[in-house]
Amino acid sequence: MVHKVKGVVARSKGAPVTLETILVPDPGPGEALVDIITSGVCHTDLHYKLGGISDDFPFLLGHEATGVVSAVGPDVTDVAPGDRVVLNWRAVCGNCRACNRGEAQYCFNTHNATQKMTLEDGTELSAALGIGAFTEKTLVAAGQCTKVDPDADAAAIGLLGCGVMAGLGAAINTGGVKRGDSVAVIGCGGVGVAAIAGAALAGATTVIAVDIDAKKLERAKELGATHTVDSSETDPVERIRELTGGFGADVVIDAVGRPETYKQAFYARDLAGTVVLVGVPTPEMTLELPLLDVFGRGGSLKSSWYGDCLPSRDFPMLISLYKQGKLDLDAFVTERITIDQVEEAFDKMHAGSVLRSVVEL
Ligand SMILES: NC(=O)c1ccc[n+]([C@@H]2O[C@H](COP(=O)([O-])OP(=O)(O)OC[C@H]3O[C@@H](n4cnc5c(N)ncnc54)[C@H](O)[C@@H]3O)[C@@H](O)[C@H]2O)c1
Ligand SMILES: [Zn+2]
Ligand SMILES: [Zn+2]
Repeated sequence: MVHKVKGVVARSKGAPVTLETILVPDPGPGEALVDIITSGVCHTDLHYKLGGISDDFPFLLGHEATGVVSAVGPDVTDVAPGDRVVLNWRAVCGNCRACNRGEAQYCFNTHNATQKMTLEDGTELSAALGIGAFTEKTLVAAGQCTKVDPDADAAAIGLLGCGVMAGLGAAINTGGVKRGDSVAVIGCGGVGVAAIAGAALAGATTVIAVDIDAKKLERAKELGATHTVDSSETDPVERIRELTGGFGADVVIDAVGRPETYKQAFYARDLAGTVVLVGVPTPEMTLELPLLDVFGRGGSLKSSWYGDCLPSRDFPMLISLYKQGKLDLDAFVTERITIDQVEEAFDKMHAGSVLRSVVEL
């Protein structure tokens, strides 16, 4: 059977998104059909719409989602109809070089549904991050469904499906932030503020939030920043050094992903410190740095895919901390919107007035 539902589609580069009828097939082997409950609007959806990720239009947008499994393929045993799930975009294979050496968070062969969702005329849709969740129903690989506690606000925990997990994990997993560390985070959108919350959760004693938008800095303070720097007025490298005894921070996280913010991160970290790039650059961006500085400053330069998370390990753990009041996921949900308001949510993201708009289906 094919299900006819509404979905938010980016048809061509830069064009406003449209609400389209889409066709979703029943799950085949290894697949699951999921009724979406909520889906957050992430900057990566905007990257897709603007052609910054690939040219495989049309895209079915949305990927930060909570849902209920409604059907599974014949061989699927890990999840069952009725299960409350948060969708993940790195279903690990268990079999590649990374998985075989016990580092499944780097899996090089993550999978998605095999069958395609389509427009009514049969045009195949590219699902954002292999999910496509601004729709009533989506088809994913069963491994993309992480079973979670049904007794937690869907809008809040759904954000673990992308931006909030990426930020928390950039601090906790990739950056390895420890008690007593100093941490600076450049860019305080959903991802950056989550990195701030992650650094605070891990016990960092100095947590410096950097943004060009004063509103974002206010919110960063509420989620654990001890200091803020408005880099539209103040040189962030100098200020971060001042705030860390003249040395620079132990871990600096670039949650913007531009050459200039990466350079700030590179020079704002202490000798032998760590830079984590979690913001996603676009294809035309290049970086120039004196190689001697790369050598001379030591330490490590890392990238963080999805916060180097393992969804089956990290989602339930973080939901448990949320329910205990130790991780304020509610603070990330700025507004709840309907499926026809995604374009407006992009405008608000651009204007910096929201941390996350969450579509309720
Ligand atoms: N690595 C991953 O797995 C992963 C996952 C999700 C999102 N992302 C990426 O993370 C980035 C942030 O996503 P988001 O949803 O938080 O976006 P967002 O638009 O909500 O936030 C971006 C923030 O950066 C600030 N900013 C922009 N230019 C700046 C500059 N030059 N200096 C300082 N601050 C600046 C903005 O004011 C804003 O607060 C995006 O590139 C997104 O694609 C990466
Ligand atoms: Zn693998
Ligand atoms: Zn995302």
